Amino acid sequence: MISIKNVRKVFPSKQGQLTAVDDVTLEIKEGEIFGVIGYSGAGKSTLIRMLNGLELPTKGTVTVASREISKIKGSELRKARQEISMIFQHFNLLWSRSVSENIAFPLEIAGVKGPQRKKRVAELIKLVGLEGKENAYPSQLSGGQKQRVGIARALANNPKVLLCDEATSALDPQTTDSILDLLVDINQRLGLTIVLITHEMHVIRKICHRVAVMESGKVVEIGSVLDVFRNPQQPITKRFVQQVTEPEDTKETAEHLLEQYDSGQIVQLTFIGDSAEQPVITNLIRHSNVNVNILQGKISQTQSGSYGTLFIHIDGDDQEVDKAVDFIRSQQVGVEVVSHG
Ligand SMILES: Nc1ncnc2c1ncn2[C@@H]1O[C@H](COP(=O)(O)OP(=O)(O)OP(=O)(O)O)[C@@H](O)[C@H]1O
Ligand SMILES: [Mg+2]
Repeated sequence: MISIKNVRKVFPSKQGQLTAVDDVTLEIKEGEIFGVIGYSGAGKSTLIRMLNGLELPTKGTVTVASREISKIKGSELRKARQEISMIFQHFNLLWSRSVSENIAFPLEIAGVKGPQRKKRVAELIKLVGLEGKENAYPSQLSGGQKQRVGIARALANNPKVLLCDEATSALDPQTTDSILDLLVDINQRLGLTIVLITHEMHVIRKICHRVAVMESGKVVEIGSVLDVFRNPQQPITKRFVQQVTEPEDTKETAEHLLEQYDSGQIVQLTFIGDSAEQPVITNLIRHSNVNVNILQGKISQTQSGSYGTLFIHIDGDDQEVDKAVDFIRSQQVGVEVVSHG
């Protein structure tokens, strides 16, 4: 559906040339929710803006739905943009227009006639859950409701691709989740391909199928969300994964425990897919002659299964502790000994 080949974007700046996107090559499949994560300045917005021709690559090609976006101009590009919509962090609504009028706007531009336009607006209002707010103005809406208007407007002309540039970054966690649920719903119902960029791993975890990690203009890691969570390769990826899997005070808890106990081992377990549901700890206690303290744990859902980490302190006879660790290893659970007591 989307093919980015050897794309580079260089901006002229006072200090010389600034390479915002540096030789990126990626394929995004039809119907996929594809995430791009990176810190500020990594080049995420520049990359996504090349997907709808808001920026032109300095080098390389961008193809979306069989159209070479990096080559077309004028009316052909405007037509292509009806198939590649975008939503933004700050919504970009028209403040003097009501909810209905905002959603009708792209339909007016596309030349959709009155009665048909009205019908389509009503459908979209229902799709994004804004019934009753048709005549409200953006200033009378919450952040989440404003983004729903943004989404409805983006979907008005039945696009094939929806681009989301930090679409939930201005929202509180609960509202973020409701907007992410809406995006998943739209992806499943309409088969829409979604490309989203974010600096929050929570967003990737919750809705993306695959993720690319960007650093200094380059894609440094790419893979299915579950694989990247299970086995992050780059230091930056590990930091992002820790954002959602490891509570911040885990280290302190472990250190505190190490001070308290001078025996046993502290072990980090990683659960993926089905094993997250299995009562590994119960079995461990049944099979071994050790004491188990649960320090901290977290299980998260991804689009392709659950993922979780659990920190435990295993105490007892040295030999028994080793046996216990071996037992966990045999349970298709990732095991890492954090430190010795
Ligand atoms: N129009 C422009 N002219 C000059 N430099 C630019 C332009 N747009 C972006 N840049 C530079 O390109 C680099 C990448 O910027 P970009 O906006 O793509 O990053 P980002 O990953 O989206 O960051 P953020 O998370 O802060 O939105 C930055 O160093 C930025 O200053
Ligand atoms: Mg940006």
